[in-house]
Amino acid sequence: MANVTVIGAQWGDEGKGKIVDWLAERADIVVRFQGGHNAGHTLVVDGKVYKLSLLPSGIVRGTLSVIGNGVVLDPWHFRDEVAKLAAQDVAITPDNLQIAETCPLILPFHRDLDGLREDASGAGKIGTTRRGIGPAYEDKVGRRAIRVCDLAHLDDLGPQLDRLLAHHDALRAGFGEAPIDRARLLADLAEIADVILPFASPVWRTLGEARAQGKRILFEGAQGVLLDVDHGTYPFVTSSNTVAGTAASGSGLGPSAPGFVLGIVKAYTTRVGSGPFPTELEDETGTRLGERGHEFGTVTGRKRRCGWFDAVLVRQSAAVSGITGIALTKLDVLDGFAELRICTGYDLDGRHYDYLPPHPNDQARVKPIYETIEGWSESTAGARSWADLPAQAIKYIRRVEELIRCPVALVSTSPERDDTILVRDPFQD
Ligand code: IMP
Repeated sequence: MANVTVIGAQWGDEGKGKIVDWLAERADIVVRFQGGHNAGHTLVVDGKVYKLSLLPSGIVRGTLSVIGNGVVLDPWHFRDEVAKLAAQDVAITPDNLQIAETCPLILPFHRDLDGLREDASGAGKIGTTRRGIGPAYEDKVGRRAIRVCDLAHLDDLGPQLDRLLAHHDALRAGFGEAPIDRARLLADLAEIADVILPFASPVWRTLGEARAQGKRILFEGAQGVLLDVDHGTYPFVTSSNTVAGTAASGSGLGPSAPGFVLGIVKAYTTRVGSGPFPTELEDETGTRLGERGHEFGTVTGRKRRCGWFDAVLVRQSAAVSGITGIALTKLDVLDGFAELRICTGYDLDGRHYDYLPPHPNDQARVKPIYETIEGWSESTAGARSWADLPAQAIKYIRRVEELIRCPVALVSTSPERDDTILVRDPFQD
């Protein structure tokens, strides 16, 4: 297959950055197709650490990178992320980065609204990244968004701004906030337009032509399937579709665009933000997983909640996303545990579930049914072949494959890109 789509198969933070970087070396184009700067992708290249939130990971190696129409773009954040990378000697120019002309913009009042809602929600809050992602997507489907192409037509923005500000001023009034300063907004847009417009491009055409020439396109998902607005733990989800199919609609290629769907799966489970988490461990074991796995959010620095591997959830993610094969990450975090547990089903008031029930109250109440597997004392860190792995670690991987009904394509054993066991090359499949 010429194309590969990488998505998170849990609640995000599965270690996509490293895998995307590893694949990006062999890709001709890397494409982001959903989400915004709520993503946090950490790349370690030649010992140097790069943290990306919005830009496609391919940019660090100079691979042509594309921000698709399915992304919501904060232009001021874009400017700052470009500057941060420039300080690390990564040059970003229209030659190596294109932004879809139809990308909706995240504006300062989207960020305000995200924060205001979170602060007002008390216990029911979503635990968002407060970056305005949800409000920006609301305006997109509400047909009042300002898009990248509007930056070249600011003088014609009148009626669109009327509708946008009427909507937001009413919401702001409900929070006791002042109306939006229209003149200031227009001035800020005019200023940032000079930064964004040179990168604006019909990316659907770039990608279509690349595909016709047999180029390899790598689609880089953000967040994870359990945060998908349709298939995730609603309402504790993000505001975009994170499943692989979105690679097509979020970039402007046809339905076969995703190619090989590589689901990134952590060898245990983590979650940031609120919402149900059946295998969460609020004990010493959870703390140990968090410490060994350095489980702190890249974007917000929040401590991630940790728990055992939940095969029910990953099986469901693989099914709804059409995952072809998985990349299992952070196996080394499980080194040294005498026993490991894997969730194989749920019990809810005596009823057995082999999937996550859809209602949030049921999701919060299900009791995980575990099977226990003997652990291993040896280190798996840095392993590059099956022969480097202890027999018990291989048993754990095989059991995971069996339970999620999906084969392992890669195993990642450290943040370093070459510490990877390759079973099936997604680009060759
Ligand atoms: P939002 O995407 O900022 O609206 O946040 C909605 C939910 O998605 C919250 O639970 C966030 O913690 C979660 N979330 C958003 N982006 C990421 C990510 O890149 N990794 C993990 N969780 C994320």
